[in-house]
Amino acid sequence: MIKNPARYLVTSALPYANGPIHIGHLAGVYIPSDIYTRFLRSAGREVIHICGSDEHGVPITLKARNEGITPQEVVDRYHAINKKAFEDFGITFDIYSRTSSEIHYETASEFFRQLYDKDIFIEKSSNQYYDEEAACFLADRYITGTCPHCGNENAYGDQCEKCGTSLNATDLINPRSVISGSKPVMKETRHWFLPLDKYEGWLRQWILEDHTEWKSNVYGQCKSWLDAGLQPRAVSRDLDWGVPVPVEGAEGKVLYVWFDAPIGYISATRELTPEWEKYWKDPETKMVHFIGKDNIVFHCIIFPTMLRAEGSYILPDNVPANEFLNLENDKISTSRNWAVWLHEYLQNFPGQQDVLRYTLCANAPEAKDNDFTWKDFQARNNNELVAVLGNFVNRALVLTDKYFNGSVPARGATDEYDREVLSQISLLKEKVETALEGYRFREALKEAMNLARLGNKYLADTEPWKVIKNDPERVKTILNISLQITANLAIILDPFLPFSMERLREGINSNESRWSMAGSDSLLPEGHSINTPSLLFRKIEDDEIEREVKRLLQTKKDNEDNSSSASPAKENITFDDFSRLDIRTATITEAVKVPKTKKLLKLTLDTGIDHRTVVSGIAEYFEPEAIVGRQVALVINLAPREIKGIESQGMILMAEDKDGKLVFVQPSDRVTDGSEIR
Ligand code: 2FM
Ligand code: ZN
Repeated sequence: MIKNPARYLVTSALPYANGPIHIGHLAGVYIPSDIYTRFLRSAGREVIHICGSDEHGVPITLKARNEGITPQEVVDRYHAINKKAFEDFGITFDIYSRTSSEIHYETASEFFRQLYDKDIFIEKSSNQYYDEEAACFLADRYITGTCPHCGNENAYGDQCEKCGTSLNATDLINPRSVISGSKPVMKETRHWFLPLDKYEGWLRQWILEDHTEWKSNVYGQCKSWLDAGLQPRAVSRDLDWGVPVPVEGAEGKVLYVWFDAPIGYISATRELTPEWEKYWKDPETKMVHFIGKDNIVFHCIIFPTMLRAEGSYILPDNVPANEFLNLENDKISTSRNWAVWLHEYLQNFPGQQDVLRYTLCANAPEAKDNDFTWKDFQARNNNELVAVLGNFVNRALVLTDKYFNGSVPARGATDEYDREVLSQISLLKEKVETALEGYRFREALKEAMNLARLGNKYLADTEPWKVIKNDPERVKTILNISLQITANLAIILDPFLPFSMERLREGINSNESRWSMAGSDSLLPEGHSINTPSLLFRKIEDDEIEREVKRLLQTKKDNEDNSSSASPAKENITFDDFSRLDIRTATITEAVKVPKTKKLLKLTLDTGIDHRTVVSGIAEYFEPEAIVGRQVALVINLAPREIKGIESQGMILMAEDKDGKLVFVQPSDRVTDGSEIR
């Protein structure tokens, strides 16, 4: 662990540009990385925060295929949406770049070439799945099949999303091509492999011995990968979307997305500053990767091996990965629309970015998966932001406004309680700082809020609104101390709640946000005038929460409807079996209800051959007069049956959906009655 680094290089996982950002992304990666870098900046440290869109990989080409647009169009769309979402939530990157940029192609190619020229890669042929109909190899998610671990029939060639196991395409039972649906064949192809096995000893030392301070979830995952033994890993793919493999004879091959994406951090730094090498190559730089747990192996094992193999780069000092955030007890999922999207949140809670930032940090999945619920969101807002922070700050400002016309009163004689409260300010500041430096953001936020709790209790205990009658001098001291706490909050909470703390600084008419100034008991001098106070937070009402919960319930219902798919196919029949059915077009000429029944209609149909009577159970769905004249499909050689004393001479074909809704199966154009349907 580097002590007193010359500078910091903070990276946040490059999100795939194939969908919008949701609260899981924020809680897992971008809220902690933003708090961390805001803290470092405010502490006057030299820091850059790097991010951008990850624009390669099969999910992007698949999405393009499904929508009938180009991969570039897909990534252009989501790059813009996500860049804006980050800005809207105050996630301050020094650059938000993208891996389809020219500088990235150049950087990634050069990087590959360096390793290639140093003979690091193993070049070898192997058999991989190939789609003969589409005439292409089926990399990663272009192949699906049954997961050998959990039986999920839609596992991908690189991972089963149901049980989370990472897979090789050849592990899948019943593999199918996503492109044509056909059964793939094996075909030989050449690829470049990074020999992770050769770096195993070094990785064991570097992680398991030298970085015992890493978070236990990260350390534990690395250890189990290392204990299982590392294998050479292919770093190229047979695809037409990505950075072309920059060697001769590699036409039609691109770099594996997980080879090029982390190099994206380097390209983005190059794009940001001509001094990029001091961030990447000076051992005095402290590099920290913020990621989600599914990225651990790539940032702790594969990328460091690439950097080490190249030889001139530094390695991450820490990789504070978070676990996953669930939503209302269910895994967040883009495809099932089970998420709170950032742009949607802002439509429903305009201007309330900090409430979400607060909830996601207070409840961050730091050590284990955690759950976001709308009830908890409301409670955190109403009981903590409004009742503790907002209430304290508002009372301090309103009372100053009221009793002293908005001018900071002098601090007179202090008693023991006052001095105890004042001494707590710098103690709490130190606690926040220690927690932030140890990547314990929940703890840091809790300690910062303890300062507001302290202020609230101080006001409740000293009751200046009562004391004012008899001892206005004492009230001056109480409010001076309360205002010093307020000014400290505006600095200490700033990395967590940047929007509200900016407003608070406006309220106290101060632009002091330097971390080094926090802890002081004299941030606001006597006579300093504050502005007219306005509320920092507003109560969130039950109906706002109910609206969100209702939307999720609807999503759940929609998902269930979509997944309770059509009933399984019946057993096969021969063509002869089918041709024994005589189905014809026929027109309904009369329709009447069958007396004393609810469901039955007695219909007369012109079959082109004859006029016949059919009893049909559709009375609940159609008014008799509304269906006269309609042309339908009728099975005319079904043996007659007696229903309610009427002989029914055939059966009208109807389609019935899951909810029991009935509609006629009818020719798309009118044809002569008696036309055969086959
Ligand atoms: O998991 C993901 O969303 C990846 N796109 C993260 C890439 S991080 C880095 F390597 F670029
Ligand atoms: Zn599985």
